[in-house]
Amino acid sequence: MKKPLWKDETFLLLFLVLVQAFGLDDDNRPATEVCSTHTILPGPKGDQGEKGDQGEMGKHGKVGPTGSKGEKGAVGDIGDQGMMGKIGPIGKKGDKGVKGLSGISGGKGKAGAVCDCGKYRKVVGQLDINIARLKSSIQFVKNVLAGIRETEEKYYYIVQEEKSYKDAVIDCRIRDGILAMPKDEAANAVISDYVSKSGLFRVFIGLSDTEKEGQFMYADRSPLQDYSNWKEGEPQDPSGHEDCVEMLSTGKWNDTECHLTMFFVCEFPKKRK
Ligand SMILES: *[C@@H]1O[C@H](CO)[C@@H](O)[C@H](O)[C@H]1NC(C)=O
Repeated sequence: MKKPLWKDETFLLLFLVLVQAFGLDDDNRPATEVCSTHTILPGPKGDQGEKGDQGEMGKHGKVGPTGSKGEKGAVGDIGDQGMMGKIGPIGKKGDKGVKGLSGISGGKGKAGAVCDCGKYRKVVGQLDINIARLKSSIQFVKNVLAGIRETEEKYYYIVQEEKSYKDAVIDCRIRDGILAMPKDEAANAVISDYVSKSGLFRVFIGLSDTEKEGQFMYADRSPLQDYSNWKEGEPQDPSGHEDCVEMLSTGKWNDTECHLTMFFVCEFPKKRK
C-alpha cells in the first residue's frame, strides 16, 4: 500500500523548520534567504556521514538448545605424583619362611665312653630273626597240636567239619590236597593214630567203589593193590548203598554210605627235592 503523501510533506516541512531554527543547512546560508524563496522542495542529498562510535555491548541472548554429545577425549597425560596417603592399619602375620640352608658342620667332638653300638645293633637284628624263627616253630607246634601229622612223603590233616564224602573230596581239593589214601601200613598207622589221639571214632578216607561196585579205588583213581585194612567181615554191602570208606579209630576200614557226614582226613604231598 502506498504511504499517504501528506506524511512525507509534513516530515519535510518539519525538517526545514528545524534546519532554519538551528541554522544547520549544508550551505550554511542564512535562514532568511531560504525562507525568502518560499521554496518547499527537498534539497540535494547530503554527503555520507562519518562512521559512528561503536555501540554499547548488547544484552545476553536467550539460552540455546543442548548440543549433541562430543567425541570421547584422548587419554590424558600421566598426572604428577600425589601426596603421601595416611598410614594404613597393621597387616596380618606373614607366612612361615623357607627353611634356611644347613649350617656348617660342627667341630669334632671329644672322645666318648667305649660303646660298641654296632654290636648291639647286630644283637637286636639277630633277636628279630630268632623271634621270627620262634613264631615259625610255635606255628609248627600248634599244627601238631591241631593235628598235622606227617610221614616222609606226606602231611595229614583231620578236618574237623562234618561233611559228606563228596564234599570232603572237594574240601581237600580246595586245600590243595586230596582225601587221605592209606596205601601202606605205615601211612595207615599214622592216620589211625592221629584219629584215635584226636578222640574220634571214624573219618572218611579217600577210597570208594562208586564207579564199579566191589572195585574200590583211591581218590586219585588208583585201584586198591596189595594193601588193604578192612575190618573183619567188611566190605559188606548187601543193599548196595555203602560205596564210601571210613577209617575207624582202630585203623580198620569200613564201607559206609557216602551221604553220611563226618570228619575226614586230607593228605598233602611234601615238595619233591
Ligand atoms: C560200618 O558201616 C556201617 C554202615 O554205615 C555201619 O552200620 C556199621 O556200624 C559200621 N561198623 C562200625 C564198626 O562202625
